[in-house]
Amino acid sequence: MNLVLLLSIISLFAGVFSKAALKPDVVNVGAIFSFNTINEKVAKVAKVAMKAAEDDINSDPSILGGRRLSIALHDSNFSSFLGIIGALQFMETDTVAIIGPQSSMLAHVLSHLANELYVPLLSFTALDPGLSTLQFPFFVQTAPNDIDDDQSRNGIVTLDDELAERCCRISYKAVLPPDPTATSSGVRRELTKVQMMESRVIVLHTFSKTGLLVFEVAKSLGMMGKGYVWIASTWLSTVLDSASPLKPETANSVQGALNLRLHTPDSERSLFLSRWNQLSNGSIGLNPYGLFAYDTAWMIARAVKSFLDRGTNISFSNDARLSDAGGMDLNLSALSIFDGGKQLLKNIIETNMTGLTGPVRFDQDRSLINPSHDVINVVKTGYQQIGFWSNYSGLSIVPPETFYGKRPNRSSSNQHLDR
Ligand SMILES: *[C@@H]1O[C@H](CO)[C@@H](O)[C@H](O)[C@H]1NC(C)=O
Ligand SMILES: *[C@@H]1O[C@H](CO)[C@@H](O)[C@H](O)[C@H]1NC(C)=O
Ligand SMILES: *[C@@H]1O[C@H](CO)[C@@H](O)[C@H](O)[C@H]1NC(C)=O
Ligand SMILES: *[C@@H]1O[C@H](CO)[C@@H](O)[C@H](O)[C@H]1NC(C)=O
Ligand SMILES: *[C@@H]1O[C@H](CO)[C@@H](O)[C@H](O)[C@H]1NC(C)=O
Ligand SMILES: *[C@@H]1O[C@H](CO)[C@@H](O)[C@H](O)[C@H]1NC(C)=O
Ligand SMILES: *[C@@H]1O[C@H](CO)[C@@H](O)[C@H](O)[C@H]1NC(C)=O
Repeated sequence: MNLVLLLSIISLFAGVFSKAALKPDVVNVGAIFSFNTINEKVAKVAKVAMKAAEDDINSDPSILGGRRLSIALHDSNFSSFLGIIGALQFMETDTVAIIGPQSSMLAHVLSHLANELYVPLLSFTALDPGLSTLQFPFFVQTAPNDIDDDQSRNGIVTLDDELAERCCRISYKAVLPPDPTATSSGVRRELTKVQMMESRVIVLHTFSKTGLLVFEVAKSLGMMGKGYVWIASTWLSTVLDSASPLKPETANSVQGALNLRLHTPDSERSLFLSRWNQLSNGSIGLNPYGLFAYDTAWMIARAVKSFLDRGTNISFSNDARLSDAGGMDLNLSALSIFDGGKQLLKNIIETNMTGLTGPVRFDQDRSLINPSHDVINVVKTGYQQIGFWSNYSGLSIVPPETFYGKRPNRSSSNQHLDR
């Protein structure tokens, strides 16, 4: 009885003695990515774009009331362990929100931390539909899913339905080892099985290194010719955008593969594209993740603005449970709860802005409105856009934004691609 009483008194005090942010003139945001490993093109582009957003936000003092936004980067190097350490460090240094992490696996882990310490996590790459908002209220996906089997509303599933009428359904799922451990012989073994299944539509959802290896092996097995349809998820369009022109030998093995890219309206993208060479020093080609990274930073800035406009202070409190846990060398006691975290999360969910990715709002499920993808075809060392997929219109040769404002029309006579 006494013990229970004591604990509740401690947490009461913890609430009272909340400390104001260390430097009230700085708003700290963290970013957790793998900058040099798997899918590094996503992270490298995101890094340049987040820096651009930080500069743009800070060049307008009216946004954060004279405060400076500071986005600190942490390289998780494709390790959940380093990702966790990075998140803990951010949560010890009065961080109001974290952009990332890059992988859904790490997002599952970090969401538990975010839930307890009220620090919103915003990821435009960890798009696993299993990261439900009920279980992980502080985790927000700021880009539409690309593989979304659970709710059958993504491009690949729709494309498959479409192709299934002419070819066959998904009949077999081959599991490949992840980058960087996939070997030619392992891939060959799996593809040989696929060959025997008489599957002719192959959906390839993986990371870029393994993906390119699969195409190389498939080519050598004669599986890139007539009779096969290959559909890659967004990893391939990221390679096409950020590493083009492709090396001739790479291009040779991926000819004709269909792939998806997150769709963003031309008008907004082209303005940023004209700044891109200068921002990146020509080091890497822009891909859509850069646009989502830029918008995600702005979502946080705007949410912080509404937060400050209400007269709320940014403050953090010690978590009594952690001081009691001993802390010791890890200094768990430095971890603090963001007092305004729930309000900031609410502001983020209520985002209503037009960004580089078009109109940005969330629906009741907290999914971005108007999810849409480009459908592209690898041609020579580049690609050709053959259509679009959107939740609104299904497959179409007209950009999805043409339809917004009109009533959704999934009429089958509209469903075609440019071939
Ligand atoms: C990242 O991980 C790889 C392999 O696990 C390792 O070789 C490399 O040194 C690490 N890089 C950094 C910066 O920690
Ligand atoms: C581009 O060059 C400028 C000036 O040398 C430098 O400050 C900046 O960090 C570079 N950006 C990238 C993405 O390399
Ligand atoms: C915010 O901080 C200022 C200065 O420390 C203080 O005067 C004000 O009362 C605080 N506002 C709220 C709502 O806590
Ligand atoms: C641990 O963090 C607390 C709270 O920030 C601080 O007061 C204390 O000095 C830190 N202890 C060590 C050993 O760094
Ligand atoms: C979003 O903002 C626009 C323009 O400011 C406004 O017309 C619209 O009603 C807003 N939508 C919501 C859902 O708040
Ligand atoms: C997709 O479209 C359906 C019907 O038009 C709608 O109910 C659903 O909310 C949409 N999903 C998203 C994520 O926009
Ligand atoms: C949907 O599109 C088809 C073909 O363009 C058209 O015939 C039909 O009238 C449209 N339906 C609605 C409700 O707009």
